[in-house]
Amino acid sequence: ALQAFDISEKLGFLLEEPLTDLPDYYRVWMDLANNLTHLIESHELRDLVDEMPVLSPHLLSNHRELRLAHLALGFISMGYVWQEGQHSPAQILPKSLALPYWMVSRRLGLPPIATYADSVLANWKLKDPEGDMEIGNIDLILSLPGGESCRGFFVVSLLVEMDASLGLMGVVEVMHTMEISDLVGIQRGLNKVTESLKKMKETFKLMHEHVDPTVFHGTLRIFVSGWRDNPMLPNGLLYEGVSNEPIFLSGGSAAQSSAIQCFDALLSIEQEGETGAFLTRMRDYMPPVHRQLIETLTALPSLRDFILSCSSSDLRQAYNSCVTALVDLRSYHLSAVTKYIIVPGNNARAMGCPLRGVGTALNDKGTGGSDLMAFLKSARDAAQNALILER
Ligand code: HEM
Ligand code: ALA
Repeated sequence: ALQAFDISEKLGFLLEEPLTDLPDYYRVWMDLANNLTHLIESHELRDLVDEMPVLSPHLLSNHRELRLAHLALGFISMGYVWQEGQHSPAQILPKSLALPYWMVSRRLGLPPIATYADSVLANWKLKDPEGDMEIGNIDLILSLPGGESCRGFFVVSLLVEMDASLGLMGVVEVMHTMEISDLVGIQRGLNKVTESLKKMKETFKLMHEHVDPTVFHGTLRIFVSGWRDNPMLPNGLLYEGVSNEPIFLSGGSAAQSSAIQCFDALLSIEQEGETGAFLTRMRDYMPPVHRQLIETLTALPSLRDFILSCSSSDLRQAYNSCVTALVDLRSYHLSAVTKYIIVPGNNARAMGCPLRGVGTALNDKGTGGSDLMAFLKSARDAAQNALILER
């Protein structure tokens, strides 16, 4: 099951050993991608992209090359669109970028915009290849503006995602043991998910040390933003040479992480209404095999109903602990959103005349385009409501 869904026992949904360079033919892309912060700050990126030849993506020959190309073209596109800040986003992505990006995206089954699967899952390398997967030993392959806060934001997200790997082992274990009504096995699987969710919350706390709220909000965030449900680009983005109609795509967001959606699906947590619709739409931004695990889990008989039907208080407790750990993680996430978006957003608004790049247009929306606080609270409350009450 692990192989079919491209999950690694230790790394979960992370891409294993991502490539850090492309065949020489793609030198122009990588030169731009490796220098994004500088080229954006000096306002040179758009001109350089406009002069770029239209390369053929056909020399990209395997999954990891395609993933690096998708990451590079995605970050270049984010830089191109947002180079001049919130008041003058580009409305057209030039053919030199749009056409190869479109073709690479089609081959991967990903949309042509920077996703979580790019910026987090496929964007890491070890400083010392013999060393551990820990924050001091991980670098990004490609960066957006924001310096250490950019690195911190993506690397901490990566470490949280890695801590989900144990939970995914638990998911697979519950899946198999439920089939044969092995109550002890189900409980063992659920305990793994619980432990994993607790580790994820602990690791999440590294954000505070490595990400500065002002830099995150004022510098990095706009470059993660997309062109759907975004007041800064209400008419979408035209992909020149691809389509005559503008295209609407959400910006990058951990809402595109498959792990939490797998846990919701396993625990029969029903995300309803707009919240559910948004989360379901985010699956289109996941690598297709990861999306498939969520769909497989959703199609299974309900674990919650099964537990309700058998009178094992141990099992009920294991289920409730798991749901509680997920609620706790979501509550912790809400406090981070207050610190990193709401507070700096209010400060920027109060300053009235924003400095370059300090955007206020995105105060009420997530980079994925959700109405952030209402959305996040509703996702947490749906989990809370799944708790099985003692009668
Ligand atoms: C969704 C912000 C870190 C997991 C969201 C959303 C926002 C947000 C605004 C709403 C969706 C949208 O983008 O429109 C932040 C901030 C973070 C952070 C400011 C750090 C400073 C993380 C991390 C994880 C994560 C490390 C990993 C577990 C999620 C999930 C959702 C989400 C799963 C979907 C909603 C849900 O299922 O509850 N985040 N996020 N976020 N984020 Fe984060
Ligand atoms: N989704 C995160 C945000 O809205 C990155 O800021």
